[in-house]
Amino acid sequence: MHVSAVKTPRQNAARIVLTGIKPTGTPHLGNYAGAIAPSIAQSRQAGVQSYYFLADYHALIGGTDPLKVQRSTLEIAASWLALGLDPAHVHFYRQSDVPEITELNWLLSVVAAKGLLNRAHAYKAAVDHNTQHQHDPDFGVSAGLYGYPVLMAADILMFNAELVPVGKDQVQHIEIARDIASRFNHLYQGDYFTLPEALVDEQTAVLPGLDGRKMSKSYDNVIGLFLPSKALREKIMQVQTNSKAPGERKSSEESALHAIYQAFASHEETLALSADLQDGIGWGEVKQRVFDKIDHSLSAARERFDALMLQPDQVEQILRAGAEKVRPQAQHMMATLRHAVGLRALNTAMLGSGGATKVSKPAQPRLLTFKDSEGFRFKLHAADGKTVLFESIAFADAKLCGQTMGQVKSGAALVRETEFGHELVLSQQIIGNGSASAIEVQVALAQLQDSLP
Ligand code: TRP
Repeated sequence: MHVSAVKTPRQNAARIVLTGIKPTGTPHLGNYAGAIAPSIAQSRQAGVQSYYFLADYHALIGGTDPLKVQRSTLEIAASWLALGLDPAHVHFYRQSDVPEITELNWLLSVVAAKGLLNRAHAYKAAVDHNTQHQHDPDFGVSAGLYGYPVLMAADILMFNAELVPVGKDQVQHIEIARDIASRFNHLYQGDYFTLPEALVDEQTAVLPGLDGRKMSKSYDNVIGLFLPSKALREKIMQVQTNSKAPGERKSSEESALHAIYQAFASHEETLALSADLQDGIGWGEVKQRVFDKIDHSLSAARERFDALMLQPDQVEQILRAGAEKVRPQAQHMMATLRHAVGLRALNTAMLGSGGATKVSKPAQPRLLTFKDSEGFRFKLHAADGKTVLFESIAFADAKLCGQTMGQVKSGAALVRETEFGHELVLSQQIIGNGSASAIEVQVALAQLQDSLP
């Protein structure tokens, strides 16, 4: 078989977005508002080819209870499916159904610097904890925990993911993946791996829990996502409030209820609740309203979830079909890499690495200023040099236009998805828009930043 690392140019092809979901525990409202809902919405964007997988190899690092791993894998898969992740549209699979990932994990471990892994936050936190408690620094640290970032790099690099939507706590892992990828590319002289970018959504809600602190399993303040109506109502009744009586003026910050409501209600409904609080609505009535809203919003998904939980074979089949879809790609990648590192048939000609694998530096997106009858503007060209991703508003002053462009270039602007495409926001002002999807613009801006000296 002839394998080569030369990648076909995919300038105009869909962006590859990949994210892993660690199956631990049962999802709660905070997971839903902060991660699941935005992520599913993103999977529906045009111009995106998405990979969503259950990181069950990673979940093994959290404990050794096989039932928990199995149960949680089913629950998390069923939740995402029930909430509308469409396996016909995205690649949805289970990590352990793609054994090539562990194979790649080894090839990456070989080039990953140990010092790089020493600096990983999770490992460092474990060491700090041990030192504080006068234990051996590596007490209770498995090689799996230590190598966690390498396995994660394998997940990402296997499919040449360009964008990895993650929470802030995972950004370092993406940087480690980039580091390992470029080291491998360098050592084996080829363009084997795409360098991934973390995509951190600054706008997503951090939902408060029952006690007002961030909703989190570790605080024991969560409200389960698919609780039956009655149990959901009981939980909402437990959300902490102060002792103000009906008739007394209240503000939306005085209880987590308002923020929880906001994650499910429309903008108008949220404003109406703020106004009613001002007018002194009683906490009991607020709780009922919050319950009604959530119960109603989730009822269809809850029904689908309950049905899937009763039919694990259906979930199993969906995941296996997903793995079958991605495995040929993983196998092709491994064939290329095995050849690259020298794991080759002994009767093939003896060649070094590299040579045919060099590819020219890909074209970059560009920001350009221009002038029209209304004033000075700037625009963002896609890497193809032709497509205009957005145009800014007109500035009367050329210098201000240049400064604003500089800020956009340095990543200071927020890119928001709109009905018609996207808009660019800087200091709470809309400074440009276009019909390209928000993700395309985010990628282009990220590429620009990478290319800055
Ligand atoms: N470590 C991630 C988490 O705890 C899960 C994960 C595993 C992941 N592999 C990944 C996320 C690859 C993004 C890409 O949330």
